[in-house]
Amino acid sequence: MKVSVRCMVPRDVVADAIIVGVYEGAGQLTSEAASVDVLCGGLLKQLLDKGEITGKLNEVATIYPPSQTVRKVVVVGLGAADKLDVEKLRQAAANGIKAAAKGKVKTVTAHVLGAGASSINLEDAAAALIEGALLATYSYDVLKSKQEEKTLSEVILLCAGPEAICTIEQGVKRGVVMAEAANLARDLVNAPANHMTPTHMAQKAEQIAKECALHCEVLERADMERLGMGALLGVAKGSAEPPKLIVLRYEGNPGGEIRAFVGKGLTFDSGGISIKPAENMHHMKNDMAGGAAVLGAMQAIGKLKPKVNILGIVPATENMPAGNALKPGDVITAMTGKTIEIISTDAEGRLILADAVAYAVKLGASKIVDIATLTGACGIALGSVYSAVITNCDKLAQDLQAAAATTGERYWPMPNHDDYREMIKSPVADIKNSGGRMGGVMTGGLFIGEFVGETAWAHLDIAPTAYTETEKHYQPKGATGVATRTLAALALLWGERS
Ligand code: BES
Ligand code: MN
Ligand code: ZN
Repeated sequence: MKVSVRCMVPRDVVADAIIVGVYEGAGQLTSEAASVDVLCGGLLKQLLDKGEITGKLNEVATIYPPSQTVRKVVVVGLGAADKLDVEKLRQAAANGIKAAAKGKVKTVTAHVLGAGASSINLEDAAAALIEGALLATYSYDVLKSKQEEKTLSEVILLCAGPEAICTIEQGVKRGVVMAEAANLARDLVNAPANHMTPTHMAQKAEQIAKECALHCEVLERADMERLGMGALLGVAKGSAEPPKLIVLRYEGNPGGEIRAFVGKGLTFDSGGISIKPAENMHHMKNDMAGGAAVLGAMQAIGKLKPKVNILGIVPATENMPAGNALKPGDVITAMTGKTIEIISTDAEGRLILADAVAYAVKLGASKIVDIATLTGACGIALGSVYSAVITNCDKLAQDLQAAAATTGERYWPMPNHDDYREMIKSPVADIKNSGGRMGGVMTGGLFIGEFVGETAWAHLDIAPTAYTETEKHYQPKGATGVATRTLAALALLWGERS
């Protein structure tokens, strides 16, 4: 999709559709909406006065104006002006663009809705609108022999005068980069496991590195053996696909602190010998969503260039049953030297992350965020409304929440208490990989925390939020790309501080 910014008034616009925003309870149109209403011959104001259009958040109405230049005007409700935020703007843009795109529409235009009449600045408003529009029009249909016809090819943002153009373009750039990063993560997650093997993930990482001037290194099985990564190797043992440990490096602050994002890249989780029920097993191609979020975020970081150093680490493997697979009761030794008793081979995410976070520490990371579709228990606790966070550092969690506030993603803090660590003590080894059903989000997360030493660390469990069966606003069915934008936003926030 092409996105451009132009200084013109609606009267001069030649586009298939215009999206216009209306506030709830305002009683009158904004000056931008009034200029669009000129094309509608005053119909918009009439519909508002009659109460046919109320401006309620995400209300969508289409007007076919008696205009030669614009085929349709899509009116989106923005809610009350004093309650507007960037997330509502993303949603409004999403619902507006979906309505506008119907019926062979090629070009859609809009003012920077939300800027001016609310406290949201022009750059943030432009970013949110473009992000919402690009996220909403995403679809994964590359594997269909006959692809649905998509005509929408250009979004044009209108600006009142030349002094605003730079600011809007800045916002557009951020919005495009953020949305493309999340859409990349969605593509990786939506791809079937036979197309998205650890080898394919590593190739993707190399491609991202090339395009965004990042450094990429991929550790092979022999490297993992040399490093003693018994936990990652243990999970990979039963699979015919070779495991990969992907390391992307972005250096925006040479000599400064190093932070790491570590994402679970389980390209297919059958459960291994502790095999999962057949029903819904196909969803386990999504089990690399944490890794996909890291790759997407690294692409965004490479393009937006904050003044920080970020490592993007993705342990990638399948979890399969086989004659040589890991077995319940086996004891393996992680890179840190800790011995792990395997209770369930289906608790494999924490195993590959144990070695990956330890490797992040070895590479000098002083802050680590790991991201994983780790536990079914997370969905029981939070539904698909929130992802879970567990941390050993309140400051890091605060930064994460500040980043999430800019992306509209939701993370709920879960307790880090020693009593949960008691639940994963093993009678035969240093630790066991399952504490049973109770408190699964915490025992799973805190298991990973046992491998970061004293390093500041936060764990995000995105098991319930990585994938959705219901379309909503800018979220189509399928992979959500969750955590991608928040990780990128976190890097931007850190960058502003240094
Ligand atoms: N990948 C799963 C978690 C998962 C479940 C993600 C549902 C998305 C949807 C993970 O590897 C797993 O199997 N976890 C087990 C842990 C248990 C054996 C301690 C679980 O949640 O049942
Ligand atoms: Mn599993
Ligand atoms: Zn898994």
